[in-house]
Amino acid sequence: MFASEVLRSVDNMASKRSNTFKVLLASLAVAALGYVLRSPSLYLRRETKSSLGYPKDSLLNFTELTAEYGYLSEEHKVLTDDGYILTMFRIVKARNCHRAKRSPPVLLMHGLLQSSDSWIDSGPDAGLAYLISDACYDLWLGNVRGNYYSRGHVRLDPDKDPAYWKFYIEEIGIYDVPAMIDYVLNYTGFQKLNYIGFSQGTGTFLVMCSEKPGYCDKVKLVISLAPASRQMHTQSKIFRTVTQTFYRMEGLLSMTGLQEVFSKGGFSQEFVAFFCQLSGVTERLCEKVIDAFDHVDSTHLGSITNQTTRVLFGHFPAGTSVHNMARYGQSMNSGRFEKFDYGREQNLVLYGSEEPPQYNLSATTVPVMCIYGKNDGLVDTRDVEWLMAQLPNVLEMVKVEDPQWNHMDVTYSQYTGDTIFPKINEYLLKYTSA
Ligand SMILES: *[C@@H]1O[C@H](CO)[C@@H](O)[C@H](O)[C@H]1NC(C)=O
Ligand SMILES: *[C@@H]1O[C@H](CO)[C@@H](O)[C@H](O)[C@H]1NC(C)=O
Ligand SMILES: *[C@@H]1O[C@H](CO)[C@@H](O)[C@H](O)[C@H]1NC(C)=O
Ligand SMILES: *[C@@H]1O[C@H](CO)[C@@H](O)[C@H](O)[C@H]1NC(C)=O
Repeated sequence: MFASEVLRSVDNMASKRSNTFKVLLASLAVAALGYVLRSPSLYLRRETKSSLGYPKDSLLNFTELTAEYGYLSEEHKVLTDDGYILTMFRIVKARNCHRAKRSPPVLLMHGLLQSSDSWIDSGPDAGLAYLISDACYDLWLGNVRGNYYSRGHVRLDPDKDPAYWKFYIEEIGIYDVPAMIDYVLNYTGFQKLNYIGFSQGTGTFLVMCSEKPGYCDKVKLVISLAPASRQMHTQSKIFRTVTQTFYRMEGLLSMTGLQEVFSKGGFSQEFVAFFCQLSGVTERLCEKVIDAFDHVDSTHLGSITNQTTRVLFGHFPAGTSVHNMARYGQSMNSGRFEKFDYGREQNLVLYGSEEPPQYNLSATTVPVMCIYGKNDGLVDTRDVEWLMAQLPNVLEMVKVEDPQWNHMDVTYSQYTGDTIFPKINEYLLKYTSA
């Protein structure tokens, strides 16, 4: 649908000679954008960044950063059925847990453009990975294909093979999440685990339940934090515009060789990391950008500390595919939670129907509890409530009391210990046997 729309408008423009220049200019802009978003870029060495004043925590990886605060973590490599090599982390020793680990294991899954580091960027008093492992749960953290920890494949080279980047939440849900669940269960010897998914981390779980019969049964409980499914009511103009631009221009972008976006070490991430730690003024600007990106109400009270802002941009954005971003653009316009819309003709070939098939939300038979925020500009309360009404086994929906609670607060707020952790802990305990 959009391909033909773009073609038609390009046609219209080209037919007017005076507009040829604009088309050229637009193509150039697209190519430049592609270059900026993709370029492997600056390669500042860690020592250089350190001497430039980057906060130390922003330069450490998961194992190093958790060790810094007295936690012991392991790295695990997980192979998916389609050859992607993912990295998981397990916190084997928490600083404040002085009893045997509770079971079953807990799998914690990050959101779009994040990695497992998002759960520790706000430090040991607030990062959910710390709070959960301090409560003695056996905590595993996932990383989905395309982010800097999971950029491997047995055959494909992410830097050379566009095929590596042909994925969206469909493949993450069909391959990555099941592979990580199987790995954890096999490694620990349990039959089931408890799953916590933030935003896309819930969306991909829903895809798995719909498309991989049997896998839902390997999970006892899902704790769904600001779940992303359809995003019809998303209020963030920036997020809407960015993702819809990817949706409209995916074809053009891929012609310029752009398949991967917002990768760590790429220009965009290096730039924000540098910029956000540069001075008090730029730091404040970065907070403003997070706010504008994320929330609805403009009187947000800064629940994300200065230190967290400086640290998180060392790990965010963590990278994904253009195709995945484009699919979010589609989800802004659709009242359904469905597969990628390639336009009528291609849909007919691929799916046998003009409209993309919807994911089967009735297949998420596992008990789900949901925590969401009133001021979330990315995942609107109306879309969360729509989703929960489709799921057959919802235990409870909790709207965070703080009227300012927004999307990024889930991973980066300094107040998670008071706002969302008690409820998470209550449900984990209920679904824990020892
Ligand atoms: C994290 O850093 C340690 C120490 O530099 C290194 O051995 C390890 O491979 C890194 N882990 C990942 C997943 O990058
Ligand atoms: C399951 O775990 C065992 C031992 O921990 C290991 O040898 C085996 O390769 C694992 N299987 C899979 C499919 O990961
Ligand atoms: C955070 O930064 C702002 C603006 O630079 C400043 O006014 C505030 O005092 C800082 N807060 C802390 C806790 O350092
Ligand atoms: C959706 O999943 C449910 C539960 O597994 C199943 O009973 C139903 O037939 C499925 N619907 C479709 C359209 O596949």
